Amino acid sequence: MNDLQGKKAIVTGAAQGLGLAMAEGLAEYGVKVCILDISPNLSQTVEDLRKKGYEVEGVTADLSAIDQIEGVFNQAIEKLDDELDIIVNNAGIHKPMPAVELPVEDFQRILDVNVSAVFELCRLAAKEMKKKNKGKIINIASVLASQGGFNASAYSTSKGAVAQLTKSLSNEWAKDGINVNAIAPGYYKTELNRFIMNDEARYESLVSRIPAGRFGDPEELAGTVQFLSSNKSNYINGVILPVDGGFLGR
Ligand SMILES: NC(=O)c1ccc[n+]([C@@H]2O[C@H](COP(=O)([O-])OP(=O)(O)OC[C@H]3O[C@@H](n4cnc5c(N)ncnc54)[C@H](O)[C@@H]3O)[C@@H](O)[C@H]2O)c1
Repeated sequence: MNDLQGKKAIVTGAAQGLGLAMAEGLAEYGVKVCILDISPNLSQTVEDLRKKGYEVEGVTADLSAIDQIEGVFNQAIEKLDDELDIIVNNAGIHKPMPAVELPVEDFQRILDVNVSAVFELCRLAAKEMKKKNKGKIINIASVLASQGGFNASAYSTSKGAVAQLTKSLSNEWAKDGINVNAIAPGYYKTELNRFIMNDEARYESLVSRIPAGRFGDPEELAGTVQFLSSNKSNYINGVILPVDGGFLGR
């Protein structure tokens, strides 16, 4: 994947978790990465990655504020020397709760961050990429794009939408040399899943349904994002690729 060297990428929600592992996976192949994240830990993450010798920038952004997204996107492009080859729309939120108790404001916020922000960033990225007739858009869906999950009404709705959005945008932009694909992670050891890992019975029951017999480590997503960002995947369009230890196949 030598073609990744010198490419420019935005990765959202990469102050920690899966986004951080994917940002690092790109940076280790010589990609200059700009992270968009709301986290107060963003500057520390950027510093840590730079200490490892990677070219990394950060822009603080609340992606639930849809009207501010164009501004933070432009800041990121400026930090990437006015170029964009890859965007990984990873930032996402979840509020596990029975549907009857979930306030509609929370349902809406989950859709704002997980879907509307992804739509807006895809559009802005595609405008840049169309200038070169080339680009890679990678959205982070979930295995809950295919399944309803439990106490996950807003989250599974949002991830189903990410999968459909990915296919729809792929149909529009494949002819422009833009590959729009999604990764559907299974269950990984991140903060998002802390509530499951803290519930031994739930954790054991989930693990027993994963053919690999364990949750994934975030670093195990790096190879997939490197592949979908590189020329090796130029004829892959509109795919929702599970990286889930076999969970969906069961
Ligand atoms: N962890 C898993 O098992 C799993 C499985 C399937 C899908 N996913 C998806 O992967 C993505 C990353 O998940 P994770 O497990 O690393 O979660 P995480 O909670 O560890 O990290 C999420 C990141 O997104 C950022 N973020 C949250 N709200 C934001 C906002 N409004 N604006 C900007 N940034 C914001 C957070 O600051 C954080 O850095 C999410 O889209 C999630 O739905 C995760």
